[in-house]
Amino acid sequence: MTEGRSPQRLKFPEGFLWSAATAAHQIEGGNDNCDWWDFEAEPGRIKRGERSGRACDHWNRVAEDVALVQALHLNHYRFSVEWARIEPSPGVFDEAALAHYRRELILLRDAGIVPLVTLHHFTLPKWVATVGGWGGGDISERFALYCEKTYEALGDLARDWITINEPMVLVVAGYLSADFPPALREPAGIVAPLRGLVKGHVAAYHVMHSVARRLGRTLRVGLAHHLRCFDPARSWHPLDQVSAMLLGKAFNWVIPDALLTGKLSLRLPFVVKLKEEIARAKGTEDFFGLNYYSRDLIKFAPLQPLRFLRVEPPGMWRSDLGWEIYPRGIYRLLKEIAARYPATPILITENGLADAADTSRERFIREHLQYVHRAIGEGVKVEAYSHWSLLDNFEWAEGFEPRFGLCAVDYGSMQRTVRGSARAYARMAAENAVEP
Ligand code: GAL
Repeated sequence: MTEGRSPQRLKFPEGFLWSAATAAHQIEGGNDNCDWWDFEAEPGRIKRGERSGRACDHWNRVAEDVALVQALHLNHYRFSVEWARIEPSPGVFDEAALAHYRRELILLRDAGIVPLVTLHHFTLPKWVATVGGWGGGDISERFALYCEKTYEALGDLARDWITINEPMVLVVAGYLSADFPPALREPAGIVAPLRGLVKGHVAAYHVMHSVARRLGRTLRVGLAHHLRCFDPARSWHPLDQVSAMLLGKAFNWVIPDALLTGKLSLRLPFVVKLKEEIARAKGTEDFFGLNYYSRDLIKFAPLQPLRFLRVEPPGMWRSDLGWEIYPRGIYRLLKEIAARYPATPILITENGLADAADTSRERFIREHLQYVHRAIGEGVKVEAYSHWSLLDNFEWAEGFEPRFGLCAVDYGSMQRTVRGSARAYARMAAENAVEP
């Protein structure tokens, strides 16, 4: 979008939310009652054998980090609360943990920052993992009880809540690629966690809304969906086209469609065929949270277990993790969300890159926001842009090496340093505009 430059800055609608995102386990430190804590201790699970450990010591630096959000002129912040801390054993709720998050929400309110709270961002309490997690018996009522108690305690300070972060990533990484706990690799085994996650969201959605009605609160409940662009590696090849199309349908739309229609339907030729009604699922997304990172180029490969391969042509703009940087993808996905779910407002809940040298981040943000602006201009209802992440952090199986932060973290001294790109992003937020 650099052609046709005009000096006119691209103004965002008044009230647009400029944001950064984090997740509890990746920054808080000492989160030793969750399944990841043990998973990290298993040899070979995390790159270089790293463990989340003290992470960014955010648990003890909440005030400092809220001040950073404010210094960056952001008027919105997405963070997660930790189930393993709030409900350390079944039915036991820890008042001190709830008070901690309450204090964080008050700090945000006093700084004029609108919060978006995630209830489940990848980690499960150990006691939930022990009974089989999302793929074991039905834990939806357990999850809903945790959501109910947490929302009851904190919901006067936050209107917007995400039940589950990236349910499809949990399914794929936990049950197909074995990158996340429970680290299984059984294609047909994805049905149970998929169904479990949808049921968990639905149960939480209804119980939270009934608390809101009882207490006279305004509430919106959604999920953060990780969506990717899937394109044929050989644009002319019909089997690449069909593979990319089927994958996109399965990965991106199966869960949001289930929440729109009430029917969970998944078809992966030779692997899974599923069509079932999920009780009370219809119409359970008050907003659509979009996490967007990258695109996959897909080649039909009949000898592979899933009948496709991802290819990585040389010469593309890539992040430190090798992910293609493809800003137009955010526009394509926003348009498709708006076409599929025209009544649902959209919050961009994550978008970012690993860039230790900070050479790409400013351009990355600017170009993605140019495309967001374009989508808004074409009538797509986008309310927020949340950059992943506020801080460098523990990047799951990749450990601490990838640097996703607007602010760099020195893991020895725990000192935070605002990167140049973050200063540029702060200017965009302050002016509610990006350069064309
Ligand atoms: C998302 C995830 C975040 C973070 C980010 C960068 O999938 O929600 O927790 O890890 O990716 O990889």
